[in-house]
Amino acid sequence: MTFLSGLTPYFIAVFCVLVVGFWIQLQREKKPEEPTGETVSTSKARRWVDQDLQDDTEIPAKNDEDDDDDDHGSELDLPHVPYAPPRYPVASMLERSQDFYSLMNQRRSVRFISPEPVPREVIDNVIRTAGTAPSGAHTEPWTFVVVSDPDTKHEIRTIVEDEEEVNYRQRMGNKWVKDLARIRTTWVKEYLDVAPYLLLIFKQTYGIASGGKRKTHYYNEISVSVSCGILLAALQNVGLVTVTSTPLNCGPRLRVLLQRPANEKLLMLLPVGYPSHDATVPDLKRKPVEDIMVHI
Ligand SMILES: Cc1cc2nc3c(=O)[nH]c(=O)nc-3n(C[C@H](O)[C@H](O)[C@H](O)COP(=O)(O)O)c2cc1C
Repeated sequence: MTFLSGLTPYFIAVFCVLVVGFWIQLQREKKPEEPTGETVSTSKARRWVDQDLQDDTEIPAKNDEDDDDDDHGSELDLPHVPYAPPRYPVASMLERSQDFYSLMNQRRSVRFISPEPVPREVIDNVIRTAGTAPSGAHTEPWTFVVVSDPDTKHEIRTIVEDEEEVNYRQRMGNKWVKDLARIRTTWVKEYLDVAPYLLLIFKQTYGIASGGKRKTHYYNEISVSVSCGILLAALQNVGLVTVTSTPLNCGPRLRVLLQRPANEKLLMLLPVGYPSHDATVPDLKRKPVEDIMVHI
């Protein structure tokens, strides 16, 4: 008897190990499989979203989706109209392609911006141009907030510098900080006060359809990024400069400051103006076409 009661702690220990093992096995079976890179085609998967892109498009609930279908349904009646853009002789195409490349090859990210005023109509046209971008299912999921009010610019600067200081000191790794040191960017962003305009570009992660239901904004981040590229080209075309910035972790505070709705997330912040007379840029080289193009 004494021998048996001496064994009890061992029985309890073995029993506990078996219970824990059984529980771990149960959890493994419940856990969904990690994506393998192959297309997931279960009914729960976001059917049209490329797994590689990690698209954060917000998909409406089933009932909202039905409403969404109705919304697109009306577009089936959309008339098609003739389209005949100008067609250029080959020599002219060559010249135009060379000229446009030369113009765009002069584009640089400029962190020294003059306070000189810029006509508001020019900014309006630049944004009109950005709004010509293609978008998933023509959802046009962008909002361009133009800030010229000095107090609001200063509040933006305060938020960005607050967050950027934490980014540089804590959130970014050593390698990131070292990479940025090459181009001499720090968390101090004087240009946010100085530039005559700050453009804050928001992606609408979903839209609001008639009746207040959510409307899917397919590939909204790609669509808005394409639009930003066109915007940068439009600025270059009129001799204005900017520096592309994606201020880490500033989105929520800036969204509240600018009173943007919950479906909008900050994608880019562009200070815009003429370059200051003593502006400098890092002496970067671009990859030659052979290194960026594969012709098959
Ligand atoms: C998505 C993106 C984010 C960027 N974020 C910043 C930024 O936060 N601060 C900054 O000074 N430059 C930023 N840049 C600018 C890059 O540093 C710059 O484009 C790069 O050094 C090449 O120089 P270039 O634009 O003069 O050709 C960003 C550029 C891109 C495309």
